[in-house]
Amino acid sequence: MITWIKGGEVIDPRSGTKRTLDIVIQKGKIERLLPPGNFSPPGDIDLKIIDASGMIVTPGLIDMHVHFREPGEEYKETIATGSQAAAAGGFTAVACMPNTNPINDSRSVTDFILERARKANLTRVYPVAAISRGLRSESLTEFGDLKQAGAVAVSDDGRPVTSSELMRRAIEYARFFNLPVISHCEDLDLSNKGVMHEGTISTRLGLRGVPAASEEIMVVREILLAKLTGYPVHIAHVSTEGSVTFIKQAKEEGVPVTAETAPHYFSLDHTALTDFDTNAKMRPPLREPKDVEAIKRGLSQGVIDVIATDHAPHSPLEKDVEFDNAAFGIIGLETALSLTLALVRDGVIDLPTAIAKLSYNPASILSVKGGFIEEGKEADLTVIDLNSEYVVQKEGFKSKSHNSPFIGWKMTGRAILTMVGGRIVWESNEQRNPDS
Ligand code: DOR
Repeated sequence: MITWIKGGEVIDPRSGTKRTLDIVIQKGKIERLLPPGNFSPPGDIDLKIIDASGMIVTPGLIDMHVHFREPGEEYKETIATGSQAAAAGGFTAVACMPNTNPINDSRSVTDFILERARKANLTRVYPVAAISRGLRSESLTEFGDLKQAGAVAVSDDGRPVTSSELMRRAIEYARFFNLPVISHCEDLDLSNKGVMHEGTISTRLGLRGVPAASEEIMVVREILLAKLTGYPVHIAHVSTEGSVTFIKQAKEEGVPVTAETAPHYFSLDHTALTDFDTNAKMRPPLREPKDVEAIKRGLSQGVIDVIATDHAPHSPLEKDVEFDNAAFGIIGLETALSLTLALVRDGVIDLPTAIAKLSYNPASILSVKGGFIEEGKEADLTVIDLNSEYVVQKEGFKSKSHNSPFIGWKMTGRAILTMVGGRIVWESNEQRNPDS
């Protein structure tokens, strides 16, 4: 069978391609990329035509930071439902963090995740293994064993590695296996059980605050450890102006650091909490308007390399409770692309840059498949309608959880088709039944 994606504008940030091309796919691979009007399919073969005229076609989006709750909290999300949400959001691959139950700190858990991902058979799922056993910051996990089992990176995400000495050893050990190290930057003493950003709003609401310095102290530590060891550290979910400044300076000095932010940090600020909306509660917390502006600058200046969702599903059991007791985290896989496209419309970053931060850059940091479009490579592709308008609805989520602060938001632009290895894993109804 041949699949022919016809007439889409192909955007490939790596090669700089931005033009209308036909894509011919066979046996899961991109066989040919050619200007329209140049392909005549052989008559004796099954042919599927995808009309992409007026659409853009990009490398499959890659989310390097999600929390699927399997094993342990399958009522919030399973690997299958998380993969469905990813596919519907345009993602062809995700990297899932180790704070499951049991924690992914051993080969058997990594094996289990990969087995479930194979069964789900939708997006590619890359396990991220824990840095420390039990995420307790006491002793390191077996990086070599975990890598061999299929882990693509190590992180204690959800928690920081509290011991600087252990973190140093983790980075040096990771270098040995060429494993990326992802850091959740938070000084737990300074966070001091805070539930939102420390500022005027937390004072007004009478909620305990988490100062920006809680993140920034650890960002500086990781920069110093990257400098000391000469091995890269990737900073997860950057949320403050200070973090952007420190990372910028480090990069200018040639320190090997990379960074990601999540769409909520450039779309919302701490005023989203004035009604005690637990769906706007996450760690790190939503910050101030000046931080939002700094995150946007960080994205446009290349200080922040990656947009990742930090998709963190929780059920009403953890969210429909008093603000202080509510769990941290929001889902993000099905809104990330639309929120990023809003940045493009606002002129913060151009479209190829946005796509690079959602595909090529995370693929490079994790050294995983995909991130670019090239003949002979796997057909992991996302077809995007930049003009599709919709309102985010709770019932519309493929994720098992609905903890999103973006419900009710009017969005423009979304994925209409997601393809993994030449196989369509998601196609919007709009696309399938244009008249309905
Ligand atoms: O808000 C968050 N939720 N931040 C994290 O770092 C972890 C995540 C979760 O696992 O729920």
